[in-house]
Amino acid sequence: MVEVDRKTFLASLPAGALAAMSHEDKAEELEHYMEEELDNRIAARRAGADGEAGSIITLEELEQEERSPRGTGRLFMPREDEFPPLPDKPTVLDFFRLRFAPANHVLQSATHALRTGQPERTVFACLMHDVVLNLIKVDHGWWGAQLVEPYVDERVAWGIRYHAALRFYPDEEYGYEYPEMYNRIFGHDYVPEPYIKEAYEYARNHRWYGEARLITVNDTYAFQDDMDVDIEEFTDIIGRQFKQPKEGLGYDNSPVAHMWRTIAFPNRPL
Ligand SMILES: [Fe+2]
Ligand SMILES: [Fe+2]
Repeated sequence: MVEVDRKTFLASLPAGALAAMSHEDKAEELEHYMEEELDNRIAARRAGADGEAGSIITLEELEQEERSPRGTGRLFMPREDEFPPLPDKPTVLDFFRLRFAPANHVLQSATHALRTGQPERTVFACLMHDVVLNLIKVDHGWWGAQLVEPYVDERVAWGIRYHAALRFYPDEEYGYEYPEMYNRIFGHDYVPEPYIKEAYEYARNHRWYGEARLITVNDTYAFQDDMDVDIEEFTDIIGRQFKQPKEGLGYDNSPVAHMWRTIAFPNRPL
C-alpha cells in the first residue's frame, strides 16, 4: 500500500505553491501524487527483478516538472524518450499500451471491482475512471467523463464524472470511509469548494448515485505496490463495454475526437 506522509508529500510540492493552493487543489495534488508514487514503486520493484533501469523520476525531472502548471497531465511533463507511434486506427487498448501505461492505479481498481463480483459496467468504469489524468488533472472527473462519453454506456460516463466529487464524502452503506490520509494531510477542518459540494449533492440524490460511489470504493483499494495487473486481462470487458469507432479513436469525427488526437500527439506545436 502506498502510504504518504505529510512531510514527504509537502516536500514534493514546488516552493511557494502550498500557500497559493486551495484545499481542493491540495486534495487533487495528493491523489495524483499517490498515483505517480505507485507507478514509481512498481517500476522500481520490476527493475530490481529484471536488473533494468526503472522509470523513477530524477531530481532534474522533478525540478522541471515544478515549473509546469500543476494541472498538466503526465503526457506534457518533460521526458527523454519519444512517444511510440500509435497504429493508424488506434483502439482504446492501443492507448492503454502506448499512452496510459503503466496505469497501475486504474488496473488495480478494476481488478478489485472484478474480484469482489461487481457488475461488469462498474469494472469497466473503474478501468477508465482516471485515464484522463494523462491529459489533464484539473477537474478530472468532468474531463474523464467527456473523454469516453460517446463510446460507453451513459451510466459509465456519469459515474466517472461524479466520482471525483464523491471522494470527499463518506457513505457507510457502501463501506466508503473518508480517507484518513486527507485528515492527516489537510487537517480535520478541510471543506471542499462549493461547486464540489453541489456536484456531490446532485449526485447523492440521483438514481445513478451507485455508479459513481462504487468507483470511489474501488479507488481506495488501488494503491498496492505489490500488485501487477496487465491490461490484457480486460480485453474482453473492453470489447463489450467500449464502442470502438471503426475509423480509430481520434478520426471518427466525434465531439471528443480532438481529445484522443491530443493524447496521441502531445508533441504537436499546432
Ligand atoms: Fe479520480
Ligand atoms: Fe482514482
